[in-house]
Amino acid sequence: MKFTTRKKDDAVLDEVVDLSELSIPEHMAVIMDGNGRWAKRRGLPRVAGHKAGAESVSKVVEACGRLGIKFVTLYAFSSENWNRPQREVDSLMGLLEKFLKDKTPQMVNDNVRFRAIGRLDKLPPSVMRELEYAVEVTSGNTGVTMNLALSYGGREEIVDAAKQLMRRCADGELCIDEVDNEVFGSAMYAPDMPDPCLLVRTSGEVRLSNFLLWQLSYAEIVITDTLWPDFRYESLLSALREYSARDRRFGKLL
Ligand code: FPP
Repeated sequence: MKFTTRKKDDAVLDEVVDLSELSIPEHMAVIMDGNGRWAKRRGLPRVAGHKAGAESVSKVVEACGRLGIKFVTLYAFSSENWNRPQREVDSLMGLLEKFLKDKTPQMVNDNVRFRAIGRLDKLPPSVMRELEYAVEVTSGNTGVTMNLALSYGGREEIVDAAKQLMRRCADGELCIDEVDNEVFGSAMYAPDMPDPCLLVRTSGEVRLSNFLLWQLSYAEIVITDTLWPDFRYESLLSALREYSARDRRFGKLL
């Protein structure tokens, strides 16, 4: 398949790219790292890095839609991020609210379905309102699903799933012996989404940072040195090339 962009202002996207060699993951997860370092290198406050990172979010989701990636889960705010200085937490929440206000009409227009996972009840009410609105008005869209992990922790998700299952057992709806991988998986925050086949982490750090611990069991992991605010279509293609070269054996022999 040949792919040409409709956008004239992006030189890389203007190129004709041969995608026939690429495996396109159904679900890609991303740990968006390096906003702070991007800002520091420019002598800017950390929030400038987060603002630039929000631009990458829009560009990458748009590219995922065109490439046929059905789900993209982005780690935007972890459970641990609540421990950052209050000023940075407030800036991130403000940025998120503005992002949702500004981009929801575009998501509606671009056929993007918006979702969010995490302990969302901890988010400020003004962010929750925008979040719920974005989920509602994009719920019928059939293009790429943009899933934001917010106030999210992989261990917390597993604990929440265990509590839900224990409650069902206590209520007599479920027997302990019926709990297997499938039943446990069905208690996760977004059980209707397939597990990610690919995890991309930017900025060269090599760790999971409490992200999707259950779902990433068999994901291929691609680490790039690119800082998240610099991550563009070319960086995405490079990650997909690396992913396409992997043998996915799921513990079996080929
Ligand atoms: C990690 O980089 C990034 C975050 C904690 C926040 C991610 C947020 C964004 C990409 C922007 C906001 C998102 C939306 C959807 C509006 P870091 O700041 O820890 O970077 P560092 O390791 O270089 O300091």
